[in-house]
Amino acid sequence: MSVPFLPLTRPTIDDETIAGVAEVLRSGWITSGPKVKELEAKLSAHCGGRPVRVFNSGTCTMEIALRIAGIGPGHEVITTPLSWVATSHVILEAGARPVFVDIDPVTRNIDLDRIEAAITPATRAILPVDLAGLPVDRDRLYAIARQHGLRVVEDAAQAFGSTWAGKPIGAIGDFVSFSFHPNKNITAIEGGALVLNDEREAKLAEQYRLQGVVRTGFDGMEVEIVGGKFNLTDVAARVGLGQLPHLEAFNARRRELARAYFEFLDAPAMRALGLQLPPADFTRTNWHMFQVVLPEERLTIRRAEVMAKLHAAGIGTGVHYPPIHLFAVYRRLGWKEGDLPIAERVCRNILTLPLFPAMSRGDVDRVAEALTSVLSTHHK
Ligand SMILES: Cc1ncc(COP(=O)(O)O)c(C=O)c1O
Repeated sequence: MSVPFLPLTRPTIDDETIAGVAEVLRSGWITSGPKVKELEAKLSAHCGGRPVRVFNSGTCTMEIALRIAGIGPGHEVITTPLSWVATSHVILEAGARPVFVDIDPVTRNIDLDRIEAAITPATRAILPVDLAGLPVDRDRLYAIARQHGLRVVEDAAQAFGSTWAGKPIGAIGDFVSFSFHPNKNITAIEGGALVLNDEREAKLAEQYRLQGVVRTGFDGMEVEIVGGKFNLTDVAARVGLGQLPHLEAFNARRRELARAYFEFLDAPAMRALGLQLPPADFTRTNWHMFQVVLPEERLTIRRAEVMAKLHAAGIGTGVHYPPIHLFAVYRRLGWKEGDLPIAERVCRNILTLPLFPAMSRGDVDRVAEALTSVLSTHHK
């Protein structure tokens, strides 16, 4: 009997949401409208009542946050090299310079101990990422930001449903950005949300979202800033609304599956091989991803071959991510190999295993068994 291919991730969309989308499509209003407003209200409730605006991507929310903070040419923004490239592209889009700081090898997030050494008179903000949903230490992060008068744009694209000090990510802090891309813990097909500090910022975010337009009365229109076309459709918002009630159950299931990975992989044989597991955090993280770091010095094959062998065994894996500073765009800005050695080593060896709510315990066992078999067959 052949086993179906296990993808790296897959969204779970219920029938009610599918019916709700059909309803929106039949309603006569399919772009931004009442569903967008409803989604913003629900997200705001999730984020402790803070203002929230939704957009057609997580990427644009970060660029808009930087613009609202007045960050542009001549400014520097401190960020991590281990992220989706959007994280630092938005800094360039805003006209500022990204300054990469090496990561903590255990959390794989920006190393907070190294941030202060990277601060210069041009630094205006810190843009940290909660990789795989594991939150950066918010207490230390904001202590540093406060001490140096810096804004924070939290790239919490992967951290919806994660918590810090018992509160949801988004309920505390400065700007907080979420993504609802299909591989995230909840999706709106594509989409993002920005948590802001006050109504003034929220109004500015609305202007940046739609060509800078401000309407008044029946026929009034003014444009004082240049905005983009970043609005979310009601169709997408309806998908997001259908996902929200499942957030806790989805994340609880992810936690269970992550525990199952630990039961299998946190074994003496794997430890002896030097396979690095993620921090065993079962309180704060939403387990957006389960990432291992392969022990390159103990293996006779490289990551790509490990991935090919798992693929041949019917298992999808992913790389999240190559180090941003070594992409051509960033090399042209002067970044080079050896600048951020910890990130470079981790990025060469990091491997994301399948993890999504519809997976079974048997799927986890199958992945863990296949990985164990590949690593133990190809070690020095
Ligand atoms: C860490 C991180 N930052 C930013 C983004 C960008 O989000 P989006 O794809 O919604 O623009 C993503 C997801 O794709 C991400 O994982």
